[in-house]
Amino acid sequence: MSTRTDALDFIKHNYDFYLGILQDFIKIPSISTDSNQKQNMVEAANFIKHILNQFGINDVQILDTKGYPVVFAEKKSSNQNALTVLIYGHYDVQPVDPIDLWQTDPFTPIIRDKRLFGRGSSDMKGQVVASLAAYHAINSTGEIPVNFKFIIEGEEEIGSPNLANFLLEHKDLLKCDVILNPDSGMISPDSPTIVYGLRGLTYFELNVFGPDHDLHSGSFGGVIHNPAIVLSELITKMHDQDWKVTLPGFYDDVIPLSDEEREKLLKLPITEDDLKRQTGAPALWGEKGYSPIERLGSRPTLDINGMISGFTGEGSKTIIPSSAMAKISMRTVPNQDPEKIYRQLKKFIEDNIPHTVTWDLKQFAGGWASISDIHHPGVIALTKALKQEWGTDPLFKREGGSIPVVASMQRILGQDSVLTGFGLPEDKIHSPNESLHLPTWKKGMLSLVHFFFNYAGLE
Ligand code: BES
Ligand code: MN
Repeated sequence: MSTRTDALDFIKHNYDFYLGILQDFIKIPSISTDSNQKQNMVEAANFIKHILNQFGINDVQILDTKGYPVVFAEKKSSNQNALTVLIYGHYDVQPVDPIDLWQTDPFTPIIRDKRLFGRGSSDMKGQVVASLAAYHAINSTGEIPVNFKFIIEGEEEIGSPNLANFLLEHKDLLKCDVILNPDSGMISPDSPTIVYGLRGLTYFELNVFGPDHDLHSGSFGGVIHNPAIVLSELITKMHDQDWKVTLPGFYDDVIPLSDEEREKLLKLPITEDDLKRQTGAPALWGEKGYSPIERLGSRPTLDINGMISGFTGEGSKTIIPSSAMAKISMRTVPNQDPEKIYRQLKKFIEDNIPHTVTWDLKQFAGGWASISDIHHPGVIALTKALKQEWGTDPLFKREGGSIPVVASMQRILGQDSVLTGFGLPEDKIHSPNESLHLPTWKKGMLSLVHFFFNYAGLE
């Protein structure tokens, strides 16, 4: 039987080896939203397969979906009664643009100030390698105390459009006692965190069309409605003076926080100054009547993720653009239905857009919000594990970000996920210059070793 101490020592001795694997993983530009990267997506899946082979699992499967493949592997304990932990991860990353703002190449990992820079270092290649390392250390030092299953997908960053079908098709393969999902993060380096709530996401592209070509803004200015102005006005109307979202019925299905939960959440050590420091913004903003912590975890929001129209090059060019486009998304909270949000947005546009333009609304994949059971045995094992490594009890938080698979797994597999991760708010995930705080990452690996032993019920 592997002992906990041997496995922990194994991680410490092989830290550079695991860091090397993470660096090689980051070198693969596995951007799921970019159709030019198809080859690299396949390479990333193969990379994971190869690492799992190297880590003692011969039969690693690369399972097809309508989109990018899912890597699945299983390692059984010789103990017939061992519990099964299913470890979730994703091998895809977000796009790198605006590329000019990167201080170093996003796919050339570089260590500076105890941080590893590169796209995906924190979200979530680092977390994937940490989980694989914890398994590997335990497997290399004796008999494993739990059965391990791995499901590493390639479409999380585009809303996991094919994962629900995959879960339905492979229900039996995925049978387990608990799901470990290390795709969230920590409040600060000293505060290990368990996430028990995630927001959902619905995502749209709205195109507004005016004249059938760009016009001279002198020859036609004053007679033809400018699509950029139409789109801006429409977007402006999507919030009222209290910064509430004005789509009809948007808040109807929102469940308010209980007093008890609200009180607990407000005790979290997240201050307005922290948020200013982490973002570099001069002031906070948000829905009137709610504190920042409530707004982040338990209130739905609407954002513009990008807009484009007309001339954006150097200098000036006098045109009325023929069209304007905005990427619009909503972060939803439990009980809000993405399909209802789609209908609300469509109705809002129909009711508010002038007849001087035409328009088109596309919906992309997203996912439902989720709440996980904080009394699950997995949460108890993880709470203890984080305390063993950090010397302090973990904080319990609702996360503003989304991980669609969590709600899908609850619905389709009837299984809850235990969520943690070792990324920090300063990591700049989804931004230029993403990085991973290596000392925290190392602690994370060690805490996951504790987790597997704790969950198996071993001292
Ligand atoms: N790891 C993030 C979610 C996250 C962000 C957890 C910050 C904890 C802290 C995940 O990879 C992610 O970014 N998800 C997308 C999902 C979307 C495309 C459906 C997100 O939230 O934008
Ligand atoms: Mn992400």
